[in-house]
Amino acid sequence: MIIAPSLLAADFGKLASEAGRAERSGADWLHLDIMDGHFVPNISFGPEVVSVLRPQSKLFFDVHLMCSRPESLLETFLKAGADQLIIHAELTDKVADLIWKIKKLGCKAGLALNPPTPLATVEPFLDQIDLLLVMTVNPGFGGQSFMYECLPKVQQAWEWRQSRGLGYRIEVDGGIDNNTAIECSRMGADTFVSGTGLFRKRNIKQAIHKMREGVEKHRKRS
Ligand code: DX5
Ligand code: ZN
Repeated sequence: MIIAPSLLAADFGKLASEAGRAERSGADWLHLDIMDGHFVPNISFGPEVVSVLRPQSKLFFDVHLMCSRPESLLETFLKAGADQLIIHAELTDKVADLIWKIKKLGCKAGLALNPPTPLATVEPFLDQIDLLLVMTVNPGFGGQSFMYECLPKVQQAWEWRQSRGLGYRIEVDGGIDNNTAIECSRMGADTFVSGTGLFRKRNIKQAIHKMREGVEKHRKRS
């Protein structure tokens, strides 16, 4: 199981020390949300920020590209220090090529889908990806409420992985706190992104520990 605090909820005035705080507190990955103001109605930060953080952190950098034209950014983010690049299924006819390009660059490839997007959209790519990201809010902003209607997708993704003998991780992102993480874990999620639920807690170490305990206890077993 992986817990990935999302830097979007950190103090933007001191991102490096916030990344360090997550690392010292037991985070497994750092989730970095890249928003282009077009694919989503918000702008976060770019590759320069990722490259400044890279030498200061040993965490795996899980880079979530909420961008309309990620094809022009893949190499840049890889060079900046991304360990995994996640692109969105809503880019439809670009998806196959993007996954191929990410893998060709020697990077791990993730595929995300928004709440209104049917799971069938990602089905053709499941044997090519390292991670499936089931968005549990409409992306663009931190601090939104978890959408319970996304849970059946997590369960179906887990069943497909079992029945097809595949190895992609199942990540959830949006409104994840101790309670919703448990709900997702019950359905088969194994990778938990949380911004507000971790960075905005007074004691992030305790929050990560608690989330890990809950998720582990309710883990879906085959
Ligand atoms: C949403 C982003 C998330 C965001 C989650 O657009 O993809 O990664 O940081 O934030 P919380 O955990 O606050 O919902
Ligand atoms: Zn994200």
